[in-house]
Amino acid sequence: MSIIEKAASRIEHKKGEAQDAPAAPAAAHPAAPVAAAIAEAPAAVPAAAPVHAPTAVPTAVPTAVPTAVPRRTSNHVELDLERMHGIGLVTAAGGRTTLVEDFRIIKRPLLKRAFAARGPGEKPGNLIMVTSSLPGEGKTFCSINLAMSIAMELDHTVLLIDADVARPSVLRTLGLPAHRGLMDILLDDKLDMADVMLRTNVNTLSILPAGSNNPRATELLASQAMSTFVYEIANRYPDRIVIFDSPPLLLTSEAHVLASHMGQIALVVEAEGTTQHAVKESLRQLEGCSNVNLIYNKTREFPGTETYDYHYG
Ligand SMILES: Nc1ncnc2c1ncn2[C@@H]1O[C@H](COP(=O)(O)OP(=O)(O)OP(=O)(O)O)[C@@H](O)[C@H]1O
Ligand SMILES: [Mg+2]
Repeated sequence: MSIIEKAASRIEHKKGEAQDAPAAPAAAHPAAPVAAAIAEAPAAVPAAAPVHAPTAVPTAVPTAVPTAVPRRTSNHVELDLERMHGIGLVTAAGGRTTLVEDFRIIKRPLLKRAFAARGPGEKPGNLIMVTSSLPGEGKTFCSINLAMSIAMELDHTVLLIDADVARPSVLRTLGLPAHRGLMDILLDDKLDMADVMLRTNVNTLSILPAGSNNPRATELLASQAMSTFVYEIANRYPDRIVIFDSPPLLLTSEAHVLASHMGQIALVVEAEGTTQHAVKESLRQLEGCSNVNLIYNKTREFPGTETYDYHYG
C-alpha cells in the first residue's frame, strides 16, 4: 500500500469511527486541539488531473474586506494574546496545553527541512504553504498556530502571509482590522513589502495581510507578479520561516500554482470532514511539489482530552 493510500485509508477509518459517534461542532469547542498528525506524503503521486469542486461545497464568498483598505501610519499591531488563547490559538501566555504540544510535533519536521541544504532547482524550504482541499478545514487555524508555535522558539522569526486573497481571514481571526497587504503590493509597483508588513507584539512574528479586495485576486495569485514576489521574499528573508495561509486546492486552479513556488506544503485534512477522494485529488494537484506533509486536523472532539492521536507516515 502506498503512503497516500495508507494516509487516506486512515482518514477513511477515522471517518467511519466518527460516523458511529456524532461529532460535536467545532464552534462549540473552540479550544479543541488540532491535529496532531503530520505525515509526509510521497514524492510521486498519480498524474495530475483537473479537479472541480463538488457541487455541495460552498462557493467562495467575498469577505468583509473593503475594496480599498485604509492607509495606516503605524505598521505595528498588538495581538490580544488572551483573546487568542480563548479562541483556541497557540500563545506563549497559555502555557503547555495539548494544542501547544500538537504544534510542537507538527512544526518539528517542517523546521528541520526549512534550512536544510538545497539541491539545484529545489525551492526554498523556509517557504511553507498551508492549504487544504476545501474551505473550512482549518487552514487559517493551522497557519496561525504554526506561525505562533515557531515564533515562540528563541531562534526563529516568522512571517505569516495571508495568501487566501479571495477569502482572507488571518487579521479577522486575530481580531485585527483590515490593512493593506499582498494584493496592494502586487497591484502597485511602488509599494514595498516593508510598507505594508505588520510587526506584532510577538517580536519574532510579522504578518503580511491579504490587503485590498480585488476581483482579480485569485487570478493574481497565479500571476508573474506573484512569482516575482515569492522569489523576492525568499531572497530577502532567507533566515525567516514564511508561512502562507492559502486558498483551498480544489476550488481554484491558482492554489496549485502558488504551491509550485513553495519548498514545503502542509495539507490540512479535516478529521470526519475531508473525504479520501478529496485528499487524493489534492495530492494529485500537488504532484511535483517538494515536501508535502499532511496535518490531520480536528481529531479531538472535546477540549482537554489528554489522549494524543499522532500518526506518522
Ligand atoms: N483543530 C481545531 N479545533 C477546533 N476548531 C477548529 C480547529 N481547526 C479549525 N477550527 C475551526 O474551524 C473553523 C474553520 O477553520 P479555518 O477558518 O481555519 O478554516 P479554513 O480552512 O481556513 O477555512 P477557509 O477555507 O474558509 O479559509 C474555524 O471556526 C476554526 O476556529
Ligand atoms: Mg482560511
